[in-house]
Amino acid sequence: MPELDLDDARKRYHFALAPEDYVRLPFYSALLALLEDDSLALELLASVRVEQRNPMLILATLHLAALRGHGELGPIYDSARHGQLHDPVGAARVVLEVLSHSPELVRSELGRSTQTNEPGRSAVLQAVIGDLVAGSSSSINFIDVGTSAGINLCFDHFPVRQSDDGNPLTLVCEDVTPIDRSRALPRVISRVGIDPYPLDLERTNDRMWLKACLWPEESRRHERFDAIVVARPSWPWATVLRGRALERLDDALALTDPRAMTVVVNTWVASYFTPRERIDYFDVLSRRCGEENVAWISIESPMIEWPGIEVDEKARHRGASQIVLARPGSLPRHWGRCHAHGRWLEQITAS
Ligand SMILES: C[S@@+](CC[C@H](N)C(=O)[O-])C[C@H]1O[C@@H](n2cnc3c(N)ncnc32)[C@H](O)[C@@H]1O
Repeated sequence: MPELDLDDARKRYHFALAPEDYVRLPFYSALLALLEDDSLALELLASVRVEQRNPMLILATLHLAALRGHGELGPIYDSARHGQLHDPVGAARVVLEVLSHSPELVRSELGRSTQTNEPGRSAVLQAVIGDLVAGSSSSINFIDVGTSAGINLCFDHFPVRQSDDGNPLTLVCEDVTPIDRSRALPRVISRVGIDPYPLDLERTNDRMWLKACLWPEESRRHERFDAIVVARPSWPWATVLRGRALERLDDALALTDPRAMTVVVNTWVASYFTPRERIDYFDVLSRRCGEENVAWISIESPMIEWPGIEVDEKARHRGASQIVLARPGSLPRHWGRCHAHGRWLEQITAS
């Protein structure tokens, strides 16, 4: 058995949240600070297969135990969810104690994948796609690689506002640079998702795991998730293909209407690719975009390096995501940067 890299696990806990999120999330901040110094928590994270070695997996498994009604965790997470956790540091200590007595709660779930399906990324997709098609194509095919429960397959069904309007479906995204959100989005004529483990909003266990992947202190995300579960059946139908990106991309492209542009997106998926898979995926999409009416949008951690594309150091520094766009007939290039959950967006290239 290879030696566990505990230093690496410590760093992963340490940098799990963006600096701005530490302030908003006192319970998760306190919990991560404790996990980072706890030998059992380090061992648990270090033992996860490398493509899923993400502190969010540990946090989600603890949250899952709470949602399943764990006697001590349940009330803590429920209070956090309702903004009633008055001693977040004390609560985090209790969680750590539970973990030390019952590591199996987490260990038994480590085969799972972090599958957070974040609709806030649809606010970013709307902006990039709006720019991509401005004044041209009125219809697109849409392929979402790593679609999880397919929520962002309906990226065009969310209102986007600069501030909260009380509608749980509204995505609140601060546009740091001017984004023209008044222009009409293209009509989406086909929607195809790809995922090795697609989740189904109609299945109780899948919904519970998706909830566990949300952060308990973000009550608005929970409300939005509940509203999406209610709204989804009335939104357009989508095809979801089970399998890894490269195994199913050709099948997905074959389902599109060649008369319209096809937009392939990946949002927070590439870290789960193997290094070889990442290079091959990049090559396939660069070629398709170069030769066909295909565009590619990538919204990923700046730790993800694409061949020939410089890392966006500003995004790295801010713990933000970097947005890469390849227009049909063009090479991929930086388009902008955004908060990982689409809370803000900055365009860095002229359209
Ligand atoms: C963190 S979730 C992101 C989900 C969604 N893209 C979003 O932004 O809300 C990552 C998703 O990628 C999927 N995934 C992992 N490896 C993959 C691969 N090789 N090809 C396609 N999807 C993959 C996982 O199953 C998971 O549902």
